Formats: sequence, structure tokens, C-alpha cells
Amino acid sequence: MSPLYVFCADLITRKRGEKTAYNHQSVLLNPKCSLSCKPPRCLLQLQEEQTGSWKETFKEFVDVKANGPSSVGADLRLHGFNHVFGLPEHADSLQLRETRGEEPYRLYNLDVFAYDLHSRLGLYGSVPLVLAHKADRTLGVFWLNASETYVHLEYSSTDLQEAPPVKRRRTPPHTNVHWLSESGVIDCTVLLGPGPRQIFKQYAELTGYQALPPLFALGYHQSRWNYQDEADVKAVDAGFDLHQIPYDVIWLDIEHTNMKKYFTWDHKLFPDPVGLQRHLETRGRKMVVISDPHIKVDPLWSLYKDAKNGGHFIKDREGQVYQGSCWPGESSYLDFSSPQTRAWYSRCFSLKKYKGSTTSLFVWNDMNEPSVFDGPEQTMPKDAVHHGGWEHRDLHNLYGFYQHMATVEGLITRSGGAERPFVLSRSFFAGSQRFGAVWTGDNVATWEYLKISIPMVLSLSLAGVAFCGADVGGFVQDPEPELLVRWYQAAALQPFFRGHSAKETKRREPWLFGEEVTAVIRSVTQERYRLLPFWYTLFHHAHTCGLPPVRPLWVEFPTEESTFTVDDCYMIGGALLACPVTEPGIQEVQVSLPGPEEVWYDIHSKKVYGGGGTLRLPVILESVPVFQRGGSVVCRSVGSGTCTADFQLLPLDITVALDSQGEAEGELYVDDGHSFCYRDRKAFSLRRFTMQAGCLLCRAASREGSFHCETVVQSVTILGVKKQPSSVTVYIPGEDDSPASFEYVESHNVLTVNNLKLFVTVDWEIHIC
Ligand code: GLC
Repeated sequence: MSPLYVFCADLITRKRGEKTAYNHQSVLLNPKCSLSCKPPRCLLQLQEEQTGSWKETFKEFVDVKANGPSSVGADLRLHGFNHVFGLPEHADSLQLRETRGEEPYRLYNLDVFAYDLHSRLGLYGSVPLVLAHKADRTLGVFWLNASETYVHLEYSSTDLQEAPPVKRRRTPPHTNVHWLSESGVIDCTVLLGPGPRQIFKQYAELTGYQALPPLFALGYHQSRWNYQDEADVKAVDAGFDLHQIPYDVIWLDIEHTNMKKYFTWDHKLFPDPVGLQRHLETRGRKMVVISDPHIKVDPLWSLYKDAKNGGHFIKDREGQVYQGSCWPGESSYLDFSSPQTRAWYSRCFSLKKYKGSTTSLFVWNDMNEPSVFDGPEQTMPKDAVHHGGWEHRDLHNLYGFYQHMATVEGLITRSGGAERPFVLSRSFFAGSQRFGAVWTGDNVATWEYLKISIPMVLSLSLAGVAFCGADVGGFVQDPEPELLVRWYQAAALQPFFRGHSAKETKRREPWLFGEEVTAVIRSVTQERYRLLPFWYTLFHHAHTCGLPPVRPLWVEFPTEESTFTVDDCYMIGGALLACPVTEPGIQEVQVSLPGPEEVWYDIHSKKVYGGGGTLRLPVILESVPVFQRGGSVVCRSVGSGTCTADFQLLPLDITVALDSQGEAEGELYVDDGHSFCYRDRKAFSLRRFTMQAGCLLCRAASREGSFHCETVVQSVTILGVKKQPSSVTVYIPGEDDSPASFEYVESHNVLTVNNLKLFVTVDWEIHIC
């Protein structure tokens, strides 16, 4: 055994020498590391004299390690498992890779511009959750530690490949998971499942459920670093209307402020921010502004003075207010780990304090790893000191989480507790889902980054952070038109849908690439908006059951081994299989439809396919393959509009996709779309549609909740109807039965019942004879 760790009663010491450096960090990477607790300082001082391990130097940075060196670790063997997932955020495959003899997965929140692909280095956020899956069980291991963490994985299958066939048959697989964190205690929970749904619930019970977003946040967001001034914002806003592309939110990046002082405006560029927000509001639209955690050192600025006098900044190891450089130049960093600082920061969002803000202004927390341009690895030194004397090393991965928490609290308080907030954060930790959305940071406008956005979003979703997405088009560099189109198509099928681009890039509003591109983006965005009733229902499920809206195939087909490694196609809810196109110029895609017993319907052509085989489909620019699973029901808005508020008023179509038994079911969740009345007054309605023996029922799915809205079902499309019906009748309790008009397309087995006007929150039945 390599003696990297020597135990001495409750004292653990590190021997010098065998260190592996990942970026600057010197962490001992013996996977067999064991429990440790912080040793008495005097003993370590003694030891320091002997070993020199008290402080660490990296480039010009010195980490004094005021409490001495420490680490905690544990080894787990997951018997019977050889598919392991989780540990976001990494720009890598969904299934975690073997790390034997290689770099481990690192969880250390960092600002990594144009990050490398297929890397296990840390990115902006961390969730120390591993999920293991096999046909009859899903298991979770949650390692609650916010310090720098490394995870090594060893799949026994590597041994098996080398083993003789006889041994291969006898040895069940296993996966070794080695956790190692720099500080803290061991707080490890094993989630027993047995299936994915139970795991999601168990994990949500531990760390919290996805916040239910206001409906507008599920629409399309248009961002850019930067929209120049008020005229620019108004022109872009009008451009969407002119080109009939719906959108809900326009974003302002750091240049909207006065010298990068958040909570201020550059009054030359934005002389009337309230007027601008009102202008957007009359069209049902919102604005998001950036608010980073660094505060410009400016003794004349009242917010800086308040923060300093209130003791709200992180201190350096000498006890002085820490200063580092970020967008505004010399800055200090708010200590969001302090409840008093969070409360103070939350108050900064009150309408009275935040001049130029209105109730339709929402927030984006960026650079909150935190990013410190002149810090070690571009972040905060580990020996900086937080509230309560905690070193930054102890809570580094929680910094962004706490800013997100405080911002959300600020927006909720601003509305007197009535309105749901929307806050996007770049950095995150386990539980960040309680606050809102995250995105995958500074990606690049290449096909590889489009492709990796899918496993990145799936991995976040598995780890509870379900409201997530990637910058459409790629943040850095300019996408070619085909890439931009494919990115819109992919992102319209992901939870958070925002176009964003860096300062140096060319303008890329959707109408700047010619009519063909505009038309495809228009159609894909409208399709996203039409699907919002379905997305919103999925978010209700995430909020109440912990089920992520987008799911790897194995979550829906847990016994089918061929799905375990798939990360280019995925399920949206239990109903839709999405296969975005992520390669240029291809003529054909191959899609493996899971479930030999399943029936799948192409949502565009309505063609039906049996599961269990691989399809070859011609590729067109206009759309990407999406299939509805037999046995499911999907609600869509019918018509078009300019933003979610418009779409909320539209009637619905219900698409019922029959399974091989001629049955289907699905749900629809409705509420006011913006307030907490769904929670505080149970003002919501959850409806269930059940199709059986030629009869479609619309009933309450839950006794809880009461909400009446004017939304009506205008048509019902039933896929997989084998023969032309002779009649279709509508039954509404307390009313006379009435015949309904219908159309049957024999070639596709599609029945459309139309000209309906059935309130969706009222019970009714449709009988097909
Ligand atoms: C960071 C963010 C990016 C933002 C930029 C300027 O790079 O990741 O989205 O536009 O900062 O604020």
C-alpha cells in the first residue's frame, strides 16, 4: 500500500511527494484515502516543521492553510452496477467514464471561458451526486461536501474484458467510486431507489424540488453581450414581431450599468429604464439584467459603502476586506454565506432601492463561482475568510448557490411574497434547483459544443437541476447558419431556451441570415410555444415529484440495456423522444426506437413505427426527428402569438397516441402562470386524460387544487385509430350528448375530432364508435 496517509489517533497527516496537480490544486489522489478529521493545530504546527505541508504555493499564490491540511474521503463499491451517471458539471458524455490511471472528475466551481470538451476538470457548478443504474435497480450516492472534490471511478468491466470467458461469466460487474474532498466532514447518503422515479423523489426530499418557474421563463429568451441602448432593445423587440417569432424576455448584460456597478444604469444608454420595461410589458414581455457578486471598489458609491460598513464582504486571511479584479476592475465580493448579507442583498432588489427597476425586471447572476480574474485558477483564494470564520475552501462550491438564493429571496420579497421569481445562475450546487435556472456557461459556436449540450443538460437534469440549457448558437465565435438553425431546433427541445452571444461576435438575431433560416427558427420557436402546456406540466411534475422534464432514455426504459449509454436522443417527459441533429450536412439520421413492445409516432409525418429497431430517416433542414410514444397524451396550444401571455389564451389540441392496446393517458397542469396562488391557495388544476376502449375521459387528476380557466380544448387528434369511426359523441355531465365532427385519414390511422369547445378544467368524455 502506498503510504500517502498515516493515521495517528484522530490525526491524519499527508506525506509530501506524491502529488498530482490538476490546474494548480495539489491534491493527493490516493483513491484508498480514508476518513479524516481536522487535527489539533499544535500537532500540525509541529508536523509542519517536519514536513513543510502547512502552506502551499502555486505560481504567485500562497495558501496559508490556517487550519492545517485536511481531507475526507470514502471508497464505495456499487455491486452489480456498471453504468454510472451524474456529477455535473462536465463537458463530457452522460455516462461517467473510467478514471483508472487518469484524471478524476473534479468538482470545483470555476469560470472556464470556452471550456475544453471531454474534460473532467471542474466547470461552473457542482453536484456531488452519482447515480448508478442496472436493469432492476437504480442507486444514488450523494456526497454532501462543498469543498474541492475529486471522484475516481473504476468499472469492473475493464477487468472483465481482460478476464478469461469463464471468469467473465461468474463475476458480476461492480463499480468502485472513490470520493475525496479537501475539507469538511463525511455526510454521505445512499439513495436506494429501487427505480429512477423513486431516486428523483428521494434526492428531491434531501436537496429540494425544482422551483416552479413562471410560465414566461419557459418561453424564448433573447440575449446578447450587449444590447447597446434603449433604441437597440426596442428595435430587437420589434424585430421579433415583424418576423413573427415569439419571445418573452430580452436580456441586458454588464454594459447596461454605470461602470459595471450592478443595480445602476448607464444613463446615457438607458435614460429611461422604467419606460423601457413598461414598453416591453405592454407587449407581455420582460427584461432580465445581470447582477454579479463582485462589487466595484468605489468609496463614493453608496452600495459599496453600505456593504463595507455592514461587514458584507469576504475578508482576506489577514482580516482585511478581500479585493480581487473582475469586470469593474478592483472589486470586493459579497459574503453570501452570511444570512445577514443575504438579507441585505435581497433588500437591494426592492423597487424602492433598485432605481429603474419594475416588477417585470428579472435577474441573472453570473461570475459567481466566484470569478476573480487575478485569483488562483481565476477564483477566490481558498484561505479567504467568510462569516463565522469559515475558510473559502470549506464552502467554495456553495458560493453561487447562496447568491442565487439571496437574489430569489429579493425578487419574492419585492412582490410581497406573491410572485414567482426568475433568476438564472451560472454557478450552482446540489439544491440550486430550488431557486431557478442555470446554463452551461461560455460554450463555443461549433458543432461539437452543440452535441455536448445534450449530455450536459441530461446530466444536470439527473442531478435535480432540471431547469437548464445552453447558449443557443454558442457564446464564443460566430455560428454558420446551418449550425444556428440546428441549435435552435435542439434548444427548443431543452428546458431553458436562450440565445446568447459574446461581445465580439456578429449580431445574430434570428432574422439576419436570410428568409430560409428565419422561417425555420420561426417555426421551431412557435412549435416550442405550442408545446408549453406540456412543458409546464412537466415542470409541475419536477416541482412536486422531482421528475426532470428531460430524461435519458434509460429513465423511461430502465430494463433496456441498449438505452443505458444513449446521450444523443432523450425523452421529454414520458411522451416525446427527441433526436436533435448535431452534425452538418448529413442526409440521413439513425434513430433507435426503444421498447420492442412500444409504438412510436413521428410527430411531423404521423407515421407509425414499432419500437426495438433502428430507423434511418432522411434529414431535412426544417425539422428534427421527434416521436410521440404510444400510450401518451400531449397537450399543445393551437394558433400563434407573440409571447407566452398570448399563447396562454389559445385553445388546445390534445394528441392522444394509442399504444398497442388502444390505450393512452397523460396530464395537464394549469394555474395562473405567475403567482404563488397555486401553492398558497391551491389555485391550480391538474387534469388527467385517459383513453380506453374508444373512450377519452377528461377528469381531475388530483382532489387537491381548484382553478378555472377559460382555456378550451378545440380538437383531439388520436394517432393509431385502426378503422374509420361511424360516430363521435361528446358527453358533458349535466348537458345533452352531442355529436362531434371528425376527420379520418386512413393512410396514417389518424382521427381528428374538431370544432370542440370543451373547457379543460371541466369533466367531459368523447366516445368513438
Ligand atoms: C461571462 C458569462 C457570459 C456573459 C459575460 C459578460 O462570460 O458567462 O454569459 O455574457 O460574462 O457578462
